[in-house]
Amino acid sequence: MSHNRNLLPEAEPEEAALDRALRPQRLDDLIGQERVRENLRILIEAAKGRNEALEHTLFYGPPGLGKTTLAHICANEMGAPIRITAGPAIERAGDLAAILSNLHEKEVLFIDEIHRLGKVVEEILYPAMEDFALDLVIGQGPGARTVRLSLPHFTIIGATTRLALLSAPLRTRFGAVYRLDFYEQAALADIVERAARSLKVQMAPEGRDEIARRGRGTPRVALRLLRRVRDYAQVRGDGIITASIAAEALSLLEIDAMGLDDLDRRVLRAIIEKFEGGPVGLETIAASIGEASDTIMDVVEPYLLQLGFIDRTPRGRAATRLAYEHLSLPYTRTEQGTLF
Ligand SMILES: Nc1ncnc2c1ncn2[C@@H]1O[C@H](COP(=O)(O)OP(=O)(O)OP(=O)(O)O)[C@@H](O)[C@H]1O
Ligand SMILES: [Mg+2]
Repeated sequence: MSHNRNLLPEAEPEEAALDRALRPQRLDDLIGQERVRENLRILIEAAKGRNEALEHTLFYGPPGLGKTTLAHICANEMGAPIRITAGPAIERAGDLAAILSNLHEKEVLFIDEIHRLGKVVEEILYPAMEDFALDLVIGQGPGARTVRLSLPHFTIIGATTRLALLSAPLRTRFGAVYRLDFYEQAALADIVERAARSLKVQMAPEGRDEIARRGRGTPRVALRLLRRVRDYAQVRGDGIITASIAAEALSLLEIDAMGLDDLDRRVLRAIIEKFEGGPVGLETIAASIGEASDTIMDVVEPYLLQLGFIDRTPRGRAATRLAYEHLSLPYTRTEQGTLF
């Protein structure tokens, strides 16, 4: 792909180890997401008080906001082991049945990208989550019968970037569903600060704020920018992240003052220049700039919506006046055009 990849919130392999090292382990270490944190505190304490497994919990929101981190925190707080899998990794119903029948009481099974579970696999989950039972079919043809195997009380924690793609029956089997929002700049600044300390990087508060401002409200992005800025400080400066070092490094990465990267700007420009400001469908935008519509839907759109640079309308996405202003383009639309 041609665009600058620094802002894509998906984890890269090189980051995995560092991700683990920087990941907060307990609810008290978690920065930001106050609403989710306080709700989880109650959920966890209640379950512990009753000596029960944690309720099945679903986290959804754009990539890089902490869904995996929260799943680990839940298990840690419960003092329960956690097993990790992902929707696309479970290909056959038998695979899931095997995992489920090996779970222990209170164990957490984390299913990432749970919206990508196959239909047949998903159907195994319904009785497992609701009744802690596995329905096995024994034999074939007219002689076949179903045997119900009971399972220990475990916890499913699901994560998805696309709540809308989750089937209703699956969604309703989660006792707790939490949406993760983009982080406030102050929270991101705290996260960057703490990471810099564990990386033993020297950083001025203004340098930290510059990174937090352009971190797209996303911890994974902010942490990645921190590492790139650290490299720059080491090579072009004396290793200290000052405001100007951070600004230089980030503009070299083509990340603008609002945290937009090349791909974000190409999407906005496409809406404005090729489709007269919209409304236009995401698929059409994606095709017009030769990018995967999944990336645009998961990564680009949520942040542009958050900034108020695009509006979601029944007929597609439309660029707002703020977007024109940000790109220094003359605003030529009628208000009616943007609203309907
Ligand atoms: N609240 C937080 N405080 C500190 N660090 C955080 C916080 N949330 C996330 N991080 C860090 O951000 C990175 C990404 O978090 P995580 O992997 O949990 O995101 P995710 O939502 O699971 O993303 P994806 O959808 O791509 O799987 C990790 O390095 C994690 O340590
Ligand atoms: Mg994750």
